[in-house]
Amino acid sequence: MNVMNPIREASAFDPFEMNAPQPNWALFRKEQPIFFHQETGYWIVSRYADVKEIFDDWKTFSSENAQKPMRPMCEEGRRIMADGGFTAYSGLTARVPPEHTRIRKIAQECFGPRRFKAIEPQIEAIVKRHLDTIEDMHKRGEKVDFWKEVAYPVPAYVLFTLVGIPDEDVPMIKTFGDSRLTLTWGDLTDAEQIPHAHNMVAYWNYCQKLIRHKRKFPGDDLPSDLVRAQAAGQEITDEEIAGLMYSVLFAGHETTSTLMGNTIITLMNNRDAWDAICADPAKIPNTIEEILRFSPSVVGWRRKARHAKTIGGVELPAGAEILMITGSANRDDAQFPGGETFDIGRQNARTHMSFGYGIHYCLGFQLAKLEGGIVLRQLTQRIPSLRLASDFTPRFHRNISFRVPSEVMVDWNRSA
Ligand code: HEM
Repeated sequence: MNVMNPIREASAFDPFEMNAPQPNWALFRKEQPIFFHQETGYWIVSRYADVKEIFDDWKTFSSENAQKPMRPMCEEGRRIMADGGFTAYSGLTARVPPEHTRIRKIAQECFGPRRFKAIEPQIEAIVKRHLDTIEDMHKRGEKVDFWKEVAYPVPAYVLFTLVGIPDEDVPMIKTFGDSRLTLTWGDLTDAEQIPHAHNMVAYWNYCQKLIRHKRKFPGDDLPSDLVRAQAAGQEITDEEIAGLMYSVLFAGHETTSTLMGNTIITLMNNRDAWDAICADPAKIPNTIEEILRFSPSVVGWRRKARHAKTIGGVELPAGAEILMITGSANRDDAQFPGGETFDIGRQNARTHMSFGYGIHYCLGFQLAKLEGGIVLRQLTQRIPSLRLASDFTPRFHRNISFRVPSEVMVDWNRSA
């Protein structure tokens, strides 16, 4: 077995550490692109070609562990969840064919670009409202946390428009999403798990209630479409529809919030790129792709080997749990020459792995890019002198998959 050796000792690799993981990733790509990490029990894969091969070979590498908690739930947490009737299972990411194929086909029909495009005017209005807020705060001389005021809430309001959820539920569902993020991919102690276990029960009950409500009062929204598809004879159960909502009410905003936060940090640290898109908004779409490549929301994703297979010259045994460091694959020079450099003119930026690859490829990628583009267009027009606050250093939460900033403090010229 290719057990991790001097690299780990030398770099004190901690896969939950997200403040500056890139130097370790570069070391892995160069020295030992696939290795077994004893502490977590995961095989770490860091090169683009290897990650792509694993994603592509879904028959060998199943996604069944994609939602497995990195730290198993403690006994009291398990009791709280069982007593609360928590039976949620992944909407799609951890399901495998043929079940995954069946549910994804139905979900895809309801998720398409038509639905996303239809809510574009509402997205513009939601973004405008939140930028109005930070401009007002700035005028009053208050400090502005772009994360808290814009990046965190905007994707939630957008998504809930799509799902047909009232605005007043947004803070509660954001809290559910935070709990899911930290319970599944975070690094919590037993005591820290308890409040999140309660939230998961409330979250699952909310999803089930939502489906019952949409059946009684259908609207022009995603869950109503799914309920209609079921009534029209499509093979999908209530539990599966609730499971899709359980997925989307998390995946549909947490990741996009992070994209917006990382967009500001990356562009403020690469002023030339910011100035270039202020001068020419046509550069925004490829800028978003390059941000997704260079500073992605999701930097690691998991698979499990159903049988042994050799990848990149290393035999991954049957049952191997694998952590693909997609954030590292995105910086692999073999795919992206000068991969450690941020370059909004990069021709193949969109071949990044930040939305996954293959049969599970993200269903919301068009919406995420649409929202990111609208935020950038409005911001560059309204606040071209935007910068990071002088005393601000970005910090990222401990997590194995999601690289989420804790705040994004910004400032700009008074006259802007
Ligand atoms: C920047 C924003 C986003 C990022 C970085 C992201 C990332 C990902 C990743 C890495 C996967 C797993 C892909 C794989 O296993 O190959 C995924 C799957 C998924 N995403 Fe996203 N996502 C984003 C936004 C969204 C949005 C806005 C929605 C919904 C509106 C969404 C819904 C989904 C769903 C339903 C799946 C499961 C697909 C499947 O397993 O078949 N995502 N996403």
